[in-house]
Amino acid sequence: MCIGGSADYFVDVKTEEQLIALLKFINKNNISFFVIGGGSNILFSDNGFRGIVIKLSGDFGCIEVLSDTETDWKIKDKEYKNIEYVCCGAAVSLAYLARYTAEQGLSGLENLYGIPGTVGGAVYGNAGIKNYSISVVVDKIEVVDYYGNKKFLTKYDIKFEYRKSDLAGNIITKIFFVLKKDDKNDILKTISQELERRKNTQPIGTKNAGCIFKNPKDDSAGRIIDSLKLKNYGIGGIEISDIHANFFINKDNGCASDMIKLIEFVKNEVYKKYNIKLETEIKIIND
Ligand code: EPU
Repeated sequence: MCIGGSADYFVDVKTEEQLIALLKFINKNNISFFVIGGGSNILFSDNGFRGIVIKLSGDFGCIEVLSDTETDWKIKDKEYKNIEYVCCGAAVSLAYLARYTAEQGLSGLENLYGIPGTVGGAVYGNAGIKNYSISVVVDKIEVVDYYGNKKFLTKYDIKFEYRKSDLAGNIITKIFFVLKKDDKNDILKTISQELERRKNTQPIGTKNAGCIFKNPKDDSAGRIIDSLKLKNYGIGGIEISDIHANFFINKDNGCASDMIKLIEFVKNEVYKKYNIKLETEIKIIND
């Protein structure tokens, strides 16, 4: 969204050894830190962040389709046939992974094409579209906890819910997906359709953070906000999109406080009219 203040330090971590060393240093010196994926679902306050913002890159940007011998140890799930395991670094962009796996004739991520951010961020927040979330195809992950210990977690160790997981306190470094072999052209067609659908229903190309609010059960926050005739309503430089009312756009040098005021305003209006408490999907970091 191009808003929010600066961090004291920004550390680009390229290897697992660097990550572990950094976390040990942070703990020893009691420094605040925050890990970002693509930064696309996060709003930092105008004061920025007093501490270290960490971003993974380098080794964390690799994708590998695993051979049968490499996956032998975990083909226990008899219900799966015609599957392939894909190992992906947390820093890979979700859109890149979705297209890459589609090109290999592997299905399971194509519906998620168009969601911004990294694969690590997507798994942490269980990103998804209507009735489908990335957790469906996660088999196991590697993480480093905040104290610098490496751990492996299978899908049975992780609790995924609508747009959230219980992975707080861990930095996801690697994800093993289980994908279905399918017709490459059909998968690529889904990607094109998904892109087209988004072009028609979402303000692509503007400075936004995707949906601001989670959907209440069995409804759409966008539909609810729209029903209050709030499209185009703005505070400071931030405006509610006229295409999808759950997207707030930084139109004119808006700042984080404008965004927070607009979020609070919309929450109040929705509560007054419908008695529904909207929850933000974006994470607000108020240091
Ligand atoms: N609608 C309106 N007005 C609006 C927006 C939507 O009337 O301004 C109506 C639509 O016409 C449709 C219904 O509300 O009948 C649902 O809209 P849409 O299909 O756009 O889905 P959504 O529930 O608003 C969710 C996800 C999106 C994802 C879309 C498509 C959440 C919070 N949002 O939106 O995810 O792209 O489904 O699958 O779960 C995101 O999470 O950042 C995000 C963009």
